[in-house]
Amino acid sequence: MSPERRSSFLAEHVDRLARTHLRDLLKDAARGKQLRQRAGPILLDLSRQKLDGQALAALGDHVEASGWQAARDAMFAGAPINTSEGRAVLHTALRAGGSSLPSPAPREALEEIQHTLQRIDALVHAIGLGDASEFGVAPGITDVVNIGIGGSDLGPRLAVGALAPYHVPGVRSHFLTNVDGQSAYELMHQLDPTRTLVVVVSKTFTTQETLLNGNVMREWIRRAYHGDNAKVSRHFLAVTANVTAAESWGVPAAQVYPMWDFVGGRFSLWSAVGLSLALAIGSYNFHALLKGAAQVDDHFRSAPWQTNLPVLLSLVELWNRNAQGRSSRAVVPYADLLTDLTSYLQQLEMESLGKQVTPQGKPVAEATSPVVWGSVGTNAQHAYFQSLHQGTDVVPLEFIGVVKPAHDLEANHDALLSNLLAQAAALALGKTLDEALAEAKHGSDEERRVLAAQRTFPGDRPSTVILLDELTPESLGGLIALYEHKVFMLGHLWGINAFDQWGVELGKSIARQILPALDGGSADTSMFDSATRALIEAIHERRLA
Ligand code: F6P
Repeated sequence: MSPERRSSFLAEHVDRLARTHLRDLLKDAARGKQLRQRAGPILLDLSRQKLDGQALAALGDHVEASGWQAARDAMFAGAPINTSEGRAVLHTALRAGGSSLPSPAPREALEEIQHTLQRIDALVHAIGLGDASEFGVAPGITDVVNIGIGGSDLGPRLAVGALAPYHVPGVRSHFLTNVDGQSAYELMHQLDPTRTLVVVVSKTFTTQETLLNGNVMREWIRRAYHGDNAKVSRHFLAVTANVTAAESWGVPAAQVYPMWDFVGGRFSLWSAVGLSLALAIGSYNFHALLKGAAQVDDHFRSAPWQTNLPVLLSLVELWNRNAQGRSSRAVVPYADLLTDLTSYLQQLEMESLGKQVTPQGKPVAEATSPVVWGSVGTNAQHAYFQSLHQGTDVVPLEFIGVVKPAHDLEANHDALLSNLLAQAAALALGKTLDEALAEAKHGSDEERRVLAAQRTFPGDRPSTVILLDELTPESLGGLIALYEHKVFMLGHLWGINAFDQWGVELGKSIARQILPALDGGSADTSMFDSATRALIEAIHERRLA
């Protein structure tokens, strides 16, 4: 049985609000004030969501009745809430040092985290000075290549890109992710193997893409040293929870930085997974990122639902997904520095919340994760915004803007922000047929009516605006933590485990079965379905052609 798309307890509010256009809702100043909330450098504006005071109160009653504070506190304290894997979920402990509230996480975990942070700081400092031989690293490193995928790539990639103005001079960052050999090929033609440090990041140290790319880079560096493995190993660090596998792959134990079972890959930026970020922005800024996240942790732990940003974001998602039946959400940052935010959120949200059974193995009652998609504005306006304004589907949007840019090109920035504000306004207000008719000055009445119909905008299309005062390590940390806690809240409200990802396993195991059939060509393909067999044959035919 498929889950209900609509929540019955919200139905009366949906019906009432179906008769009220966002144009009218926006006239209520008190409502706007209630739906605009701030936490430190982050302003969250939900006033363009199709909610009124009554609907919000119903959502508030729902979350209060759900026991969300106890669930939240259990996560912070290290209860094994990832039940299918029997694990705690302690990414918040990774940044507890920046918190003003005492951490309830187990002392042992906090001590290991602290020790690892000290190792990272010392390594970053030494590499910055050009001599990290004490840490097993070759001298004169100019380029750092992070090899990893999913949570072992997206967080550091997002943050390294977003914090470009904070990069330390002398070290360039690169990300090698896809198993498509093209990226490795290009990097090897661009970099000097004797000045490259490769950070292999893999929680399991079994991920096909990561290990293949690691092998390619290791061979490249080995050639430069004529097979001298001792010299080769000085160009590798590993970040993993599987130290034994990293060591047998060839990274000396002292060059392995830990991950822990109590941190999920997509929540791991704050751990040694952020090593390449720390190398890019320096320890001071890395700690500032942790502090920004910790401040949002404190806010999540202490604010009532009415002013609690992650809780409000989760309630709005629940409203759009389960009350309004919206199946996707577009994330559009108006900041080139946040180009990778959408793909980061795709993993964070869809890998966490794309579930159809509860931890008890029962079908979920309501639809879960919407599809998350999007790209930077204003580029997006010139691609798919036509459909968002006048298409037949309503897609809630999330606009993310930065008040003060990291450059002095004010005219550009004003244009950027004015577009963000204009899009949110246009989507909400629309343009009526009468307004369009008033603009159509020429032609017969019928010609004017035909043109006006095409120039009418329904409006009433919901969006959220998130404004950061500035894009700094602190505000970025806070923004990411905000989304992490939103995901936690939705997992709680939907009654699913947001911290496992069994849905990625089937494809991985079929790929392992198919690989020999592509490799040698003579492998038995009879166990595959007819479409897979035909495509394998087509690939062989064309390879030989
Ligand atoms: O395939 C999904 C996944 O398991 C993600 O959850 C994870 O972030 C990614 O692969 C990489 O895994 P690892 O860090 O173990 O290489």
